[in-house]
Amino acid sequence: MQKSYDQVFENNKKWVSDNLAKDENFFQHLAKGQSPEFLYIGCADSRVPANEIMGLEPGDVFVHRNIANMVVNTDMNAQSVIQYAVEHLEVKHVVVCGHYNCGGVKAAMGNSSLGLLDGWLREIRDVYRLHSTTLNAIEDEHERYNKLIELNVMEQCFNVMKTEFVQKSYAQKKFPQVHGWVYDLANGELIDLNFDFDSALKKIQEVYDITK
Ligand code: CO
Repeated sequence: MQKSYDQVFENNKKWVSDNLAKDENFFQHLAKGQSPEFLYIGCADSRVPANEIMGLEPGDVFVHRNIANMVVNTDMNAQSVIQYAVEHLEVKHVVVCGHYNCGGVKAAMGNSSLGLLDGWLREIRDVYRLHSTTLNAIEDEHERYNKLIELNVMEQCFNVMKTEFVQKSYAQKKFPQVHGWVYDLANGELIDLNFDFDSALKKIQEVYDITK
């Protein structure tokens, strides 16, 4: 246990020297500030490292992760991250990235109580209820699981767009665009779910418009 802990600091030393070997100003440059183009909202799952799967470097992506990549409207943490990223960092893209084999989504399809987690996972059950006709029509359980993962990403994209920050920014500056992705753990591929931003915007403007 101690060995794997100590190893992290050894790894860090090597990481510092590797970066300095490539660019002696690497850390000085980063210390000056950040202007990432992406806000990435993903799952806390240890197998889905945001920067690595996107091939991006430190400074390139503002990251928020939680169980099952949720954007809960009363979650101060996620909402603060979105506000900061959109209003202050002026990110051009907000990405919600789910992943297949997501334990959070799996748990929301089950019937056991997990204590505190129940309330969090209930948000996913709400996504199921919203799309139950589509989901119940899928006989294969694994396919239904994958579909819920994808639909959950789409609903979280809507939740991003419901915020005052995103609506106001888009009305004034035409960004950020909101995207839904899913990461396939089995082959490392990132899949764009082609979230239809324009038609989503129309729906948002019908019901959730708070820009006036
Ligand atoms: Co997950």
